[in-house]
Amino acid sequence: MPEGTYRGAIVSAGWIGVAPGPGARSPFGHESNPQERDAYEHDRDVPAPGESKVRAPGESGVSGRRWTTAEPRSAPTIRSMTTPPNPVGVGFIGAGDISILHAKAVDRCPGAKLVGLWNRSPQRAEERAAEFGCRRFETAAALIDDPDVDAVFVLTNLETHLEYARLALLAKKPVLVEKPVAASVAELLEMKQLAEEVQVPCMPGHNYIYEESLRRSAELIAEGELGRLVSVYVMYNIHHPEEVAKRYPGVVRQILTHHSYILRFLAGRVRRVSAMKAVLHYEEYTEEDIAMATLELENGALAHFCASFAADDHAADPWTVVVKAIGTAGSTRYSYRDWVEIKPGLVHSQTYTAYQGSITSEVRHFVDVCIRGNGAPLSTLDDAIDAQRLIEAIEVSVAERRVVDLGTTAN
Ligand SMILES: NC(=O)c1ccc[n+]([C@@H]2O[C@H](COP(=O)([O-])OP(=O)(O)OC[C@H]3O[C@@H](n4cnc5c(N)ncnc54)[C@H](O)[C@@H]3O)[C@@H](O)[C@H]2O)c1
Repeated sequence: MPEGTYRGAIVSAGWIGVAPGPGARSPFGHESNPQERDAYEHDRDVPAPGESKVRAPGESGVSGRRWTTAEPRSAPTIRSMTTPPNPVGVGFIGAGDISILHAKAVDRCPGAKLVGLWNRSPQRAEERAAEFGCRRFETAAALIDDPDVDAVFVLTNLETHLEYARLALLAKKPVLVEKPVAASVAELLEMKQLAEEVQVPCMPGHNYIYEESLRRSAELIAEGELGRLVSVYVMYNIHHPEEVAKRYPGVVRQILTHHSYILRFLAGRVRRVSAMKAVLHYEEYTEEDIAMATLELENGALAHFCASFAADDHAADPWTVVVKAIGTAGSTRYSYRDWVEIKPGLVHSQTYTAYQGSITSEVRHFVDVCIRGNGAPLSTLDDAIDAQRLIEAIEVSVAERRVVDLGTTAN
């Protein structure tokens, strides 16, 4: 990427983006053409004419990926038309479970290609690089400095996010940071300040809100179409075995972070919160496997959060992942159970299509909108700061067994 790519970038409401301007050329020599942008939004899982439905391992960049349609589809492909001449070269820092979903997402994003990865343990790095069909770097710094790497995804554990995001930003490479974006509000403020100083995009990995259905709910609420907002429910009940859960913090940080940025996106800031947590199914791990919170929003509505690694919900109309908003003039619902594939997920007992789908949409937004200078993330670092403030308030509420007032949390 040429030096000074982000010179002249705009900084507003905590977001760094390059001002598009009519017919502006992006850092990748790509015209800011709305029609082309719309075309990116189409699913790439449509074979091009004459393209085999079954690819050889490694051929697609994600090993052994198969087109699952029984018959060739007759719909015209948009793939060749939408692949820009200079795809954004992506590098992964960290190659754990979540990198598998990001590799698939990059593969499904015509405007991007996976260049390579670095992982702390070289053996895993080697395995994943072979699986994804990409290069393996010896160090994180070597990956960041490589001229083929235009953008960096930080996919390591929470405690290291700031360190790697800082390295990427100092090298002026746009960065997508998995959630929770950082370990504290102080770390997030540091990340935001650095992104503003160097004027390089830094996008939180807030994948759920890139789901079309949640975007529509947010619009309906914002436009008042649901009347006065009464309540919002964000429920998560997905069993995680103890050996998997041990790799993460408790569900307050690991899962309620999702709930917090979703609520912020849909309905605004929280005024007060009361929370509880418990450990119900681990034998040794002492962090919580269930947490619940009751919240009062600044707009007066109430909300309820539940996050559980303790058990799946097997009942009819299960609350696997459900987001419900109820207003005086209408309601909306989003559910993981609207798309279920009967095969085990990486950790989940079944494959919830929306999980991969949300990450694919998030990556497309980062590449096609944020990096190419066409707009901001739907959830910014300021929103990550609000989400983290809420998480810290929930922790105080649990520890001190009281309702915590967040006050006016304007940044
Ligand atoms: N958006 C989502 O829905 C979602 C889902 C799962 C995980 N995540 C997030 O993704 C990140 C990674 O999670 P995962 O599921 O891949 O976990 P994982 O345990 O499978 O992988 C973690 C990776 O971090 C690396 N790592 C650990 N400590 C390190 C250190 N000190 N320095 C450098 N590297 C280190 C490990 O080598 C490993 O490759 C976490 O922040 C997690 O919260 C997000």
